[in-house]
Amino acid sequence: MCGIVAIVGSRQAAPLLIDGLRQLEYRGYDSAGLATLDSSSNCGKGVLTCKRASGKLVHLSKLVDSEGAPGHLGIGHTRWATHGKPEKRNAHPHRDVSGHVAVVQNGIIENHRSLRKDLESQGKKFVSDTDTEVIPHLIADELKLLQGEGRQPCGAMLKEAVQNVTAVLKGAYALAVIWVETPDALVVARKQAPLVIGLGEGEFLCASDTPALAGFTRTILPMEDGEVALLTPLGIELYNSQGERQKRSPSLLTGNSQVADKRHFRHFMLKEIHEQPETAELWVARHLPAGLPIESPVAMPFEESFYEGIESIQILACGTSRHAAMVGAYLLEQFAGIPTSVFYASEFRYAPPPLSPHTLTIGVTQSGETADTLAALDMEEKRRNAHGDLAFASRQLGITNRSDSSLARQVPNILDIGAGIEVGVAATKTFLGQLLAFYGLALTFASRRQNRCPTEIQDLLTELKAVPNHLRKLIQKHDQLSEALASRFAETQDVIFLGRGINYPIALEGALKLKEISYIHAEGYPAGEMKHGPIALLERRVPVISIAMPGVVFDKVLSNAQEAKAREAQLIGVAPEGPETEIFDELLPLPVVSEWISPLLALIPMQLLSYHIAAHRGLDIDQPRNLAKSVTVE
Ligand code: G6P
Repeated sequence: MCGIVAIVGSRQAAPLLIDGLRQLEYRGYDSAGLATLDSSSNCGKGVLTCKRASGKLVHLSKLVDSEGAPGHLGIGHTRWATHGKPEKRNAHPHRDVSGHVAVVQNGIIENHRSLRKDLESQGKKFVSDTDTEVIPHLIADELKLLQGEGRQPCGAMLKEAVQNVTAVLKGAYALAVIWVETPDALVVARKQAPLVIGLGEGEFLCASDTPALAGFTRTILPMEDGEVALLTPLGIELYNSQGERQKRSPSLLTGNSQVADKRHFRHFMLKEIHEQPETAELWVARHLPAGLPIESPVAMPFEESFYEGIESIQILACGTSRHAAMVGAYLLEQFAGIPTSVFYASEFRYAPPPLSPHTLTIGVTQSGETADTLAALDMEEKRRNAHGDLAFASRQLGITNRSDSSLARQVPNILDIGAGIEVGVAATKTFLGQLLAFYGLALTFASRRQNRCPTEIQDLLTELKAVPNHLRKLIQKHDQLSEALASRFAETQDVIFLGRGINYPIALEGALKLKEISYIHAEGYPAGEMKHGPIALLERRVPVISIAMPGVVFDKVLSNAQEAKAREAQLIGVAPEGPETEIFDELLPLPVVSEWISPLLALIPMQLLSYHIAAHRGLDIDQPRNLAKSVTVE
């Protein structure tokens, strides 16, 4: 995981690196570090300054302010710990024994153990527990060999050394390297981890993601897998994995990919929860414009051929995106009549089901960068296309909030949820956006396949158009209700969330949100399954939050809630007001809507309750411990 940034130009690099890293902190914030090269007073050589600090970027920023890190070229890193604790000694950049080569890396070097053993047997001393530290040692050795051939140090030599070393590295990674002998050159390389070059005025940059570049330039060149690039003040040189020079035109960064500000909200998460009516409004405006025929009720960006002959759907996702996928699967099966399965991308990639014909594979990832989701989609595409029979050929769709992401480059059809940048690590408005994308798909498939009559299609359309208003009212109301309820969770250690049918994934999402930001153990369960295990946990101190929306399983969920009440659990209902819901000790009321759209409303109390419980506990809501917004390692 982690975020990396590199810059060469005419301005002092350190403050620019810090600015870039600030935009990448969503990728990890266990430690941060940077290294710069100053060539002003060392006869053509650079003086390498390396600053590292554990914890968030602010600590590094203070360190650099007080101690300085001069030079017009540098590399920076914000870390999400994989190998080695989040301590300063494991913070990047890592250096070789002489301290002449410095490296930052995002990813995992899978063969680092054997490489480290070899290097140690040659007498190299390691000072960290990271997988990354092998890289500067290997590059330094390679540079020594190249210099031994009588060649003069230059950027091309550094590039060659990096190419030779990447040939022995296994795993998925992106890295940036500097060398004191070439104070005006830096080299970057990527293999299955994102890296984008930015072409500024008199400066060239490279970063794990575009928000780190947006403050400098809008002209970008995403690197392709296996590429290595040499960046100097004069320009960039790009090489493919065979070492051949590549020429590609840069593209322009669209939209505002820089991190927004919090406005008057205490946390980004709260702001993003409050932005959801707007997310829904934009979705309605884009996808449900007036005047569409009932046979094609949703404006979608796909060709006719995209829909033809699909017999089944499989959806691959992780975390919150998987919960959206589960609601999506319910809609695609129950509303549109298409057999649909949902998989953890991390499981699918190593244990895919036997191939089924005429299958659409959907990858859902708000960031568009989740390593498991990208790898699972890639694996599926390869095995399908290798099959030979056209019936099994790959057809893929990506649902993402980042139209400039690796997913968008990898998958031919993209549904951009257009929720705007989400900063809070716990996904909120992107979850809503993903759900809405599935409503659009389900409606489209249902009407094309005539699985629903026009009145049913029309009813769902009408309800969807009313969602932004429902959300607006609900957020206002539940913000207060949840805040008032939150203090009761001060000592709570376990919470059970129950839901059924279309709202079972919302119970899972409620539990995930609570775990992520409040560190309270929570489990989401299908309400009917509670008696097969979780019921053993119930007692007075364990709140049970039950989503009970009128529909096919309403009475069943209420009976399951009664079973919890009989075990003295505190019962909180997410349900409409009425005589049936008087069984709840506390009610987080929702309006009566059709069961189809109920998840879109039930998610609001889930998000706000988690938020206020975490806020009441004084926790770091936008950057919860151990988590990151974009998980670019396996
Ligand atoms: C991380 C985030 C979650 C997110 C998951 C999948 O774990 O903390 O909020 O749901 O990754 O991310 P994706 O970008 O693929 O939706």
